[in-house]
Amino acid sequence: MDVISVIRTKRDRGRLSDEQIDWVIDAYTRGAVADEQMAALAMAILLNGMDRAEIARWTAAMIGSGERMDFSGLARPTADKHSTGGVGDKITLPLAPLVAACGAAVPQLSGRGLGHTGGTLDKLESIPGWRAALSNDEMLAVLGDVGAVVCAAGDGLAPADKKLYALRDVTGTVEAIPLIASSIMSKKIAEGTGSLVLDVKVGSGAFMKNLDDARELAATMVGLGTDHGVRTVALLTGMSVPLGLTAGNALEVRESVEVLAGGGPADVVELTLALAREMLDAAGLPDADPGRALADGSAMDVWRRMIRAQGGDPAAELPRARETQTVLAPATGVLTALDAYAVGVAAWRLGAGRARKEDAVQAGAGVELHAKPGDRVTAGRPLLTLHTDTPERFAYAEEALADAVTVSTTPGATPPTPPIILDRLA
Ligand code: URA
Repeated sequence: MDVISVIRTKRDRGRLSDEQIDWVIDAYTRGAVADEQMAALAMAILLNGMDRAEIARWTAAMIGSGERMDFSGLARPTADKHSTGGVGDKITLPLAPLVAACGAAVPQLSGRGLGHTGGTLDKLESIPGWRAALSNDEMLAVLGDVGAVVCAAGDGLAPADKKLYALRDVTGTVEAIPLIASSIMSKKIAEGTGSLVLDVKVGSGAFMKNLDDARELAATMVGLGTDHGVRTVALLTGMSVPLGLTAGNALEVRESVEVLAGGGPADVVELTLALAREMLDAAGLPDADPGRALADGSAMDVWRRMIRAQGGDPAAELPRARETQTVLAPATGVLTALDAYAVGVAAWRLGAGRARKEDAVQAGAGVELHAKPGDRVTAGRPLLTLHTDTPERFAYAEEALADAVTVSTTPGATPPTPPIILDRLA
């Protein structure tokens, strides 16, 4: 087998054989195929696609590149959730303890933010003392004791994806449905969860900008999960507007704690409860009541135990950025649009995200929203607050927001509020 013939097959719109797929994934993981060769193959896949059988084999080869975890010894059924990434998407933070409080075990292997979308681990690391890196034994111990754990995937889990994802990120090959589906599902299947709920984001702030592409991605992932014996459900959810009222690490932790305390923005609460119900159903616990677990404080109790189990202090003051600047409403009327992608880029430019994998993020940086589409705003009053430790970034962040806001001055104009949940696939 040689790599050039594999690249040529896909470049010329052929289908890769099982042997070609198994060989190229193994050789790339071992370092026998170079990054530039894999980048050429990834671009050929992005341009020419893969059929269902190729995607299934590619995913199986990525799973086989590393170890598989086993949660069968736990007393509770396991349920996991994965979001394809969005702006202000802090849902994992309230959701994992909430579902654990209802009786499931939630092994949440999470990632860091790259580009305009935030990462769960970066958010939790703004809590003083909290640590993302756990050994497999530590992870199992927290899961058994507390019922929920959020941590980084160990190096042994789908190592082919670790290398390939980093390569795709710097070669313009992230947005390929076969590559996204196999990347996400190889990690989730190797992780060993019994059931999985996918939150497939659609809109300007998501990888999938339209509903048709999001449906295809969701159907591909549900098919892969089901074929590997994982009960898999996908919700397609809106990402044209940021979720909640914050985008940025510590800002989002603060908002998540508000949700766990029974408050928080309505869209965050609605999506958290919808995903919790799906996870509990898929885990075989359809009678559990996540609404009650939020209201009676039991989800908050699990949150505190989960943070403490990973060295964090849930009562500690969260970091705040040293500098803030407000963006004022440009007119009086009804806010009709607040673009998620622009807010994500602004938060990233303020220091909440990283440009290269090795960069540090600012815990306090980000964007706070004072209104959402549908709200009335008044000219000259604060619409957004920008937070950063490095004020020289304000101008660059404001540039990203230049066309993000639309205010309708037509009397009586109220935009239709799009539903958060757009579709469900199982
Ligand atoms: N998240 C992943 O884990 N992989 C992708 O390819 C995209 C989002």
